[in-house]
Amino acid sequence: MVNPANGRSDAAPTDPFLAEPSGERSTQAHPFLDAVGFFRAWIRDPLRVAAITPSGKALARLITAGINERTGAVIELGPGTGAFTRALLARGVRPEDLVLVEAGADFAEALRLRFPGARTLCMDAARLRTHAPFGERPVGAVVSGLPVLSMPPRQVLSILKGSFGRMAPGGAFHQFTYGPCCPVRPEILERLGLRAQRTGRTLANVPPAAVYRIMRKDAPASILEGRHALETAPLPGRPQ
Ligand SMILES: C[S@@+](CC[C@H](N)C(=O)[O-])C[C@H]1O[C@@H](n2cnc3c(N)ncnc32)[C@H](O)[C@@H]1O
Repeated sequence: MVNPANGRSDAAPTDPFLAEPSGERSTQAHPFLDAVGFFRAWIRDPLRVAAITPSGKALARLITAGINERTGAVIELGPGTGAFTRALLARGVRPEDLVLVEAGADFAEALRLRFPGARTLCMDAARLRTHAPFGERPVGAVVSGLPVLSMPPRQVLSILKGSFGRMAPGGAFHQFTYGPCCPVRPEILERLGLRAQRTGRTLANVPPAAVYRIMRKDAPASILEGRHALETAPLPGRPQ
């Protein structure tokens, strides 16, 4: 209902992916409604969304392995309906340490309602080159749900450049892919002085996916060698 005094709607904001027929607000995750909303978003913009369904819990556990409350500031790119966001919070990342960067306005609106303690920025992840969501504070990890394989190399270069421009020396960029190898081209890694390691693969996702951890080549050796621990780290309090 529109308020004639100010021309605005009086209705509570509604999560676009969880809209009840009654118009009631809901902030709870609902896998079926999320899947339907996600599929609709893919139909509207298949190149940007690049998946027909949200990631499953196994992939969310894998891509967030090794990230916890001690990681400090975390940026998530392309959170969609928040599959990885939930896992990050479950691992102990404080909402105030989390910034969500999402290009889709409908996803961003839902994320603001679902994760009010985190900051959601509706923008292209490539804007991290000029926009520092945490100011001077270095970021401990970037978790990316971006469809890197369907992006032009120049855009991927910009996103990695922006991300590593904000990253602490030992920080890592965590990227998933449905493909057989690292979705970031070797020449882009080389140009930025980065290296990629596959940290794991899960068949329990539709489609099956792998996760790569991208770090500076000169990152401290102890961090580069911590790969196995990251692969197997369970989510606290969750059955594996
Ligand atoms: C494959 S979906 C992954 C969604 C979610 N992370 C998941 O795993 O279920 C890709 C997401 O990245 C977002 N996205 C695509 N290009 C983007 C860009 N340049 N900047 C920010 N977000 C972008 C899409 O809107 C979508 O939410």
